[in-house]
Amino acid sequence: MEIGKIERLKGEVSIPGDKSISHRCIMFGSIAKGITEIHNFLQGADCLATIDCFRRMGVQIDETDDKILVHGNGLHGLQAPSDTLAVGNSGTTTRLISGILVGQPFESKLSGDPSLNSRPMKRIMTPLTEMGANISSVLRNGCAPLYITPSTLHGIHYTSPVASAQIKSAILLAGLYAEGETSVTEPTLSRNHTELMLREFGADIESTFSLEDTSATAHIRPCSELYGQKIMVPGDISSAAYFIAAGLIVPNSEILIKNVGINSTRAGILKVCEDMGGDISLLNQRTISGEPIADILVRSSQLHGTIVSGEIIPTLIDEIPVIAVMAAAADGITLIRDAAELKVKETDRIETVTDNLSAMGCDITATEDGMIINGGAPLHGATIHTLLDHRIAMAFSIAALIAEGTTNILDSKCVDVSYPSFYDTFEKLL
Ligand code: S3P
Repeated sequence: MEIGKIERLKGEVSIPGDKSISHRCIMFGSIAKGITEIHNFLQGADCLATIDCFRRMGVQIDETDDKILVHGNGLHGLQAPSDTLAVGNSGTTTRLISGILVGQPFESKLSGDPSLNSRPMKRIMTPLTEMGANISSVLRNGCAPLYITPSTLHGIHYTSPVASAQIKSAILLAGLYAEGETSVTEPTLSRNHTELMLREFGADIESTFSLEDTSATAHIRPCSELYGQKIMVPGDISSAAYFIAAGLIVPNSEILIKNVGINSTRAGILKVCEDMGGDISLLNQRTISGEPIADILVRSSQLHGTIVSGEIIPTLIDEIPVIAVMAAAADGITLIRDAAELKVKETDRIETVTDNLSAMGCDITATEDGMIINGGAPLHGATIHTLLDHRIAMAFSIAALIAEGTTNILDSKCVDVSYPSFYDTFEKLL
């Protein structure tokens, strides 16, 4: 995909459904009793992998033009898959489904693409094993392919070294099948869609917060059944982030981004935009299916550098590539710290962001847990090596809009993982 500098962006866009929430609707709907009706489901490759996995375990999932119907098999109704479950590029599918699979009376195997199969899985294998699960790495390298055999689970209290919704969710889902209470403490609250949605499905789950530090604990106790729900999936703020950034850094722009989920465990980018001097307003705020939603109005702004660190990091971890692009356009220095988790995403995003922004002429230095960006110098077009990372492709498509000359985004089709219509939406604003 070749992209050149543009004069302005104007118009209104709707954003596809939230990836994290879409995965969870399919998973929880599959192990619930009755029908789960899902509107605005994200038809991205990652979420389609989740659908495929549950179909392989005997769940009927119907796709119509405007909704998905999951005919749940109940908590104990999944069937043994005849083949390896293919999880593609999706860390969320792999880690969350593992929490369900360890509680099943059949064996299963999971495998993904080369990127997925090199991401760390010990982070879920360790707590799940502590609960009594039989889960192993087939190549004994702590990564997928994973092999799971039946076992009896018991509740544990797990203190997670990282704030990760995938780790937390894997443990909580296993907790549905364990004897006694299961709880997970994380150093700061990561996205809480599992807690919110499982509660809607009837699970016995609650969250508590420490008065002494920023830690948060989710507790779950087994229940006899979950019950199917009707869910309207909000627009994904991680996808909206590209248009928020574009609206701020492309001169003479004004973009209205409709129906975006602004759950506080996801909305750190809004705070960062404000800190950088961005002209951003939230309109029409409301709550749908237990999740807060707003329309976001963005106007071009001269941004300035900021510090992004500490407990805000888990609330914007997937937006850091595009925040780095905003920082490149901003006056002064932006420091991103406490974000070592970037190294274990679809690519090592400290490296992919630093390499590609450097190639465009930005003064950027990688650090152990983030980056230092000395913004304000004009960017120039370059060849962007996405390494098949969807968020790198989209973040650098935005950088291309303010760079002199042409930018070539290699393997831009990888946006299909989370936002297949990304380039079409973009065209609407030209
Ligand atoms: C996700 C959690 C985050 C995020 C990922 C989706 C989820 O990962 O980066 O894109 O849906 O639970 P971690 O839990 O590993 O931080």
